[in-house]
Amino acid sequence: MPQRKKIVLIGAGNIGGELASLAARRQLGDVLLVDIPDKEGVAKGKALDISQACALEGFDAKINGTSDYADIAGADVCIVTAGVPRKPGMSRDDLLAINLKIIRSVAAGIKANAPDAFVIVISNPLDAMVYEMQKVTGFARQKVVGMAGALDAARFSHFIADELNVSTKEVNALVLGGHGDSMVPTLSYCTVNGVPVRQLISREKLDAIVTRTKKGGGEIVGLMGTSAYVAPAAGAIAMAASYLLDQKRLIACAAPTDGSYGLEGIYIGQPAIIGGAGVEKIVEVELSDEEKAQLAKSADAVRGLLADAEKM
Ligand code: APR
Repeated sequence: MPQRKKIVLIGAGNIGGELASLAARRQLGDVLLVDIPDKEGVAKGKALDISQACALEGFDAKINGTSDYADIAGADVCIVTAGVPRKPGMSRDDLLAINLKIIRSVAAGIKANAPDAFVIVISNPLDAMVYEMQKVTGFARQKVVGMAGALDAARFSHFIADELNVSTKEVNALVLGGHGDSMVPTLSYCTVNGVPVRQLISREKLDAIVTRTKKGGGEIVGLMGTSAYVAPAAGAIAMAASYLLDQKRLIACAAPTDGSYGLEGIYIGQPAIIGGAGVEKIVEVELSDEEKAQLAKSADAVRGLLADAEKM
């Protein structure tokens, strides 16, 4: 008898709630929201609310909330948003000290209770959090990834589509590098249904779009007073679905570098094929000299974060 997959969401805050709703509505499996004991009521309350929406909309998924890590046993996927989101004026890197402590305890809980899970980290600063998750769990590197490239590419695509007044479905974008101000939106791989975007938009406007993409998270923090949560959840659900359904989608994500792009031993945004085995392949694309230099700079920023984390 086929069994439903088990999707565990660690952190039942804004992104966690959105993840639960999307996973249930897409019927990817049963969903468990996990939070700290003080917030167990929130996890259970969101689970009930979404379950009742499923009853209205006719989706089959069991959704529960807990603060007990023993309940995550048997998880096929764990998506981690545990941590504190950015407040206005705070950079992702400012979050390092607070969220590092949280990620270490979450990783220990996953290691002890869900050793076969595919782990997708969303907590910021992403590249350091996902590195720490793999380090503490000791899981195979292809089973631990970070969600950022999907979101950054979605932001890039939205701005391009908006500028050209075309459907976002036609826009393909690729954003590499760390999930921070040093990210590398690659114009050469940005097309509207195959037409290079440089043929459609002036250099000046493209530069402005690249800058807006890099600051895309901060723009939303400035407007709402907290981090974005709808698009980040959609990005992680796309990755989870690609794993659970063995879709083998090519999605940029914070993936381990084992020589790819000339980098070793860190996690950074790269195009990866995600299938039933996790990150099945890192795809190395040709980069311009400028993009190569930007990626090297971004890798330096990630190494800086890791060095800071090492001391904490
Ligand atoms: N175990 C489980 N949950 C935890 C833990 C822990 N050890 N520590 C904190 N949490 C929970 C918080 O109680 C809170 O409910 O994580 C949740 C985070 O939710 P929000 O504060 O709403 O934050 P959110 O907007 O969902 O963002 C989460 O993702 O994009 C990043 O920068 C963002 O790091 C932040 C994370």
